[in-house]
Amino acid sequence: MNIAIVGATGNVGRKLLEVLEKLNFKFSELYLIASDKSIGKKIAFKNKTYSIVGLSDFDFSKVKIAFFSAGSAIAEKWAPIAAKKTIVIDNSKHFRMDKEVPLVVPEVNADTLKNYKNKNIIANANCSTIQLVLPLKPLHDKFKIKRVIVSTYQSVSGAGNAQMNELEQQSKNVLEKKKISSKYFTKQIAFNVIPHIDSFMDDRYTKEEWKMMVETKKILDPKILLSATCVRVPVFVGHSESVNIEFNSDVNEKKIRECLEKAPGCKIVDETKDGGYITPVESSGEFMTYISRIREDQTQKNSINMWVVSDNLLKGAALNAVQIANVLIKKYIN
Ligand SMILES: NC(=O)c1ccc[n+]([C@@H]2O[C@H](COP(=O)([O-])OP(=O)(O)OC[C@H]3O[C@@H](n4cnc5c(N)ncnc54)[C@H](OP(=O)(O)O)[C@@H]3O)[C@@H](O)[C@H]2O)c1
Repeated sequence: MNIAIVGATGNVGRKLLEVLEKLNFKFSELYLIASDKSIGKKIAFKNKTYSIVGLSDFDFSKVKIAFFSAGSAIAEKWAPIAAKKTIVIDNSKHFRMDKEVPLVVPEVNADTLKNYKNKNIIANANCSTIQLVLPLKPLHDKFKIKRVIVSTYQSVSGAGNAQMNELEQQSKNVLEKKKISSKYFTKQIAFNVIPHIDSFMDDRYTKEEWKMMVETKKILDPKILLSATCVRVPVFVGHSESVNIEFNSDVNEKKIRECLEKAPGCKIVDETKDGGYITPVESSGEFMTYISRIREDQTQKNSINMWVVSDNLLKGAALNAVQIANVLIKKYIN
């Protein structure tokens, strides 16, 4: 099987390579694609050096699966073209709410992959949604979730390479007492937080907040009510979420903990002592999504609070995409 990565030089693209290697994903030929400015650039992978090739003249019939991680505009234009000849697994937001496109987090709704042939395009969910639905799935199966209130603390790598560089540069400038300039963020991100991710919508929510609501409904259950506040924080890698969940049935901390202990892809690290929880820095490079600070909400019946942390470039993007490919290969294509 041959595969391609569109956006191979980006944050997610480079993580895709790392995950392919760590999961020992079997392929014959690998094609690495990026923008024209990167054509000819060399990338070393598994004792071999690959040259970046351009997108516009790439023949997608050469590959069985093409991972797209080059943003929405590229996906909108090129994924349908590629999908005439290959299966596209797209990391961008563009196709996620398309009724014909499966929006997949394998631990939660792998069965929806059976519809991949509708458009030959499969959408990877938003990074903040993926790490949220992992623990929500077993909880919903067992106790039926009524409502979720989530506040995110999202790292700058979720926005892209240039934004990581902006945080680094601004941090140096602050420490050296130099002038700060913001190009990619709307305000200073170094030593600050910004309650604004993606564009504003008519109802005053941001598109990132809207995505968490509609994607959770599409992946898990349209009946789940969800309200999100998404915040960018000066962390390089790893998204965190403070999550309040109200259930339709009787729950307590013990029942919730027992249920989450079996949640696929999740690990509970939760001790009420100094350091008995996971922070984004510790999640960086890890495949697991971590759950900490599980406790009953003392102001409302059948409600709990918890803290969820995951590497947004791995489970939030590259790992989830490769897991999708693995299920596809195992169950739907040969
Ligand atoms: N970062 C996350 O946590 C995360 C999570 C889930 C989903 N996503 C999504 O994944 C996508 C990629 O994000 P990222 O963080 O990896 O972005 P990034 O670091 O900015 O990388 C963008 C990639 O797209 C390539 N590209 C840009 N224009 C292109 C063109 N005209 N033709 C071909 N390739 C082109 C770039 O190539 P050059 O180097 O040549 O410019 C680069 O490889 C986005 O849609 C993002 O929303 C990201």
